[in-house]
Amino acid sequence: MNAKQAIGIFDSGIGGLSIWKEIISLLPNEHTIYLADSKNAPYGQKSKEKIIEFCIKNTELLLAKGCKVIVVACNTATTNAIDYLRKNYDIPFIGIEPAIKPAALQTQTNAIGILATKGTLSSALFNETSDKFASNITVIEQVGEGLVPLIEANKINTPEMELLLKKYLYPMLKQHIDYLVLGCSHYPFLIPQIRKIIGDNVSIIDSGEAVARQTKHILSAHRLLNTTSTKAQHRLYCNAHLKTLQQVVAPLKLDLTVQLLDF
Ligand code: DGL
Repeated sequence: MNAKQAIGIFDSGIGGLSIWKEIISLLPNEHTIYLADSKNAPYGQKSKEKIIEFCIKNTELLLAKGCKVIVVACNTATTNAIDYLRKNYDIPFIGIEPAIKPAALQTQTNAIGILATKGTLSSALFNETSDKFASNITVIEQVGEGLVPLIEANKINTPEMELLLKKYLYPMLKQHIDYLVLGCSHYPFLIPQIRKIIGDNVSIIDSGEAVARQTKHILSAHRLLNTTSTKAQHRLYCNAHLKTLQQVVAPLKLDLTVQLLDF
């Protein structure tokens, strides 16, 4: 393993780009390889065994492409499969989990909302964290069913999306939440629409920045930080919805390649 190798990042689709963006902004010297497993999205409705199977496939490909660490940029994959990955591969893994702890510590109304996938909300890891940090407050858990397929199909600003978001968020507002945790890496793409529905009095928390900081910390602890000043290269692969991926990264004006790959 050496510092010049790329950071590998994967998600069930384009959602993990919200984390990838934080990583390349905090670590501008690092090369990255991103896998969007859009063909198999959404992971959130699949069994734990199936999610582990997808994670193995993605990990094997990133290892074959020479990555030095892997960021599991998906809450569903982290909460269901990261223990398995850490036990079975000799490489550091960084995961993402819903930011329930900061929301629980900061709430003034003692009510917080969590929007995440079924796979995340039913996982043992999520429930342990929730019991540990939020057992004395009201936690309104909501499965965001249908949101990921619309995001993957680039149908973000549509009446369908607005309808679903209202259905999921109004009950939370009724219970006076003051924090909304976005427990799925796809959901930051919805922040402008969510903001319109919940107004300015509810804080939105997602974990992207924290994951980038943790990635830096892990690289540094393993002496794998790339300190050379060569221009970072970013390779992005998807196995479906190529246009959506291209449209999301086009405005960034970075040295990157986007490619459709069968994996
Ligand atoms: N982006 C993923 C997450 O953070 C998974 C969404 C899905 O595929 O259901 O949970």
